[in-house]
Parts: sequence; C-alpha cells; structure tokens
Amino acid sequence: MSIIAPSILSADFAALAEEIKDVDRAGADWIHIDVMDGHFVPTLTFGPLVIQAVRPATKLVFDVHLMIERPELHIPNYVAAGADRITVHAEACTHLHRVIHQIKEAGLPAGVALNPATPVGAIENVIGDIDMVLIMTVNPGFGGQQFIPQSLNKLRQLRGLLASRGRGDMLVQVDGGVNAETAPLVREAGADVFVAGSAVFTATDRAAAIAALR
Ligand code: DX5
Ligand code: ZN
Repeated sequence: MSIIAPSILSADFAALAEEIKDVDRAGADWIHIDVMDGHFVPTLTFGPLVIQAVRPATKLVFDVHLMIERPELHIPNYVAAGADRITVHAEACTHLHRVIHQIKEAGLPAGVALNPATPVGAIENVIGDIDMVLIMTVNPGFGGQQFIPQSLNKLRQLRGLLASRGRGDMLVQVDGGVNAETAPLVREAGADVFVAGSAVFTATDRAAAIAALR
C-alpha cells in the first residue's frame, strides 16, 4: 500500500483552495499540511485559520505536520480547524507521551516526526501509543531540498525496531526530497506514506507526477 500526500508548502498560496482541489482530482490520497512557526524551523507558513478556510475544498484527509514549539498549546485549534491526523516532532515535545495522548483524546491518529539527526530510539517508549512515524528525509523548513541518503538506513532500522515490538502495522511516512527517483528507494526501505511537495506541485502534469510516485 502506498499513500501519496502532496505537501501544499509548494502550492500557490494565493490560490490554495484551487490547488488542493487540483491535486485531489489528480489522485492524491491525503493533503499534507506543513505548519511552521518560525522558531522550531526558520520558516513561518500558516496556522489554523488558513486550514479552516481551505477545509471545504476537499474531503481528503488533512494530514497536519506541526513543525512548531509547544504544540500542546495549539493542538485544540488544529483539531477544530479540521485536521484529520496530527504529527508532532519528538524534538519539540518535552512531554512527548502527554502530547500524543492529547491528540488521541481528541479522537485523531497521532504521528511522531524525527529530524534527520534524531535516532529512531526516540520513539521506543511510545511505540504502543502512536499511529505513524514520520522520518524526515531532509532537515525541515523548506521545500525542494535534496533527499538525505542516510535516511534509507534509518528507515530500515525503524522497520526492524517496529517488527521487534509487534508494530509491523505502523504507518511509516517520509517527507523531503521524495520524487519519482527516491520513492522506490524509500518504499524498499520500509516507507508507505509519501509526502511530496515540489515533485507534485511543480509538475505540469500533476496526475502523472502522483502516478509516478505510486
Ligand atoms: C519540509 C516539509 C516538507 C516539504 C517537502 O520541511 O515538511 O513537507 O514540503 O517538500 P519537497 O517534497 O519539495 O522536498
Ligand atoms: Zn511535512
């Protein structure tokens, strides 16, 4: 199974609702929404009000990736805005276990994201609590960066850890530099949810770009 999740970070923000409808028609499975606060990562994107404004554009899953500090202060606003699933960074959570359960108590699947330098062991003690692991395959903050090849070893390590703990069912998402060349490599290493920003939104034929990833 492959889930293709175009990241609207590379969409035309002046026409965000139309861009979302366009990738929906082009065959996207989820819409990946990169929330950046200008602190945890250098870039600042948008928050719950913009997400709420584009929520009527599609019925597809809104997969919200929070690259923000103190996510626990803001999670209720993202739930209210129409998020279907929320992923937080392990590096941004002093009390990761509590934040995961805050998401789950709101009724949403919870994901944990790991930056390239963060070991897979960072999720070891919450393996039973989460629904998805997001392996960042670039340093977060910008679209259009180069895939970090070491990510392939990390994905294999993660799949080994998950298997050893009876969580072979866990969704493993990759984000950053995913395109038609790198998608087969990350799939082979254990990924099943593919975030792609520039590879989808800069393509002249977005349906073909999504099909190529799949
Ligand atoms: C990285 C973001 C990604 C980004 C991916 O900080 O989390 O979702 O948009 O962009 P591409 O696919 O262009 O590397
Ligand atoms: Zn992302």
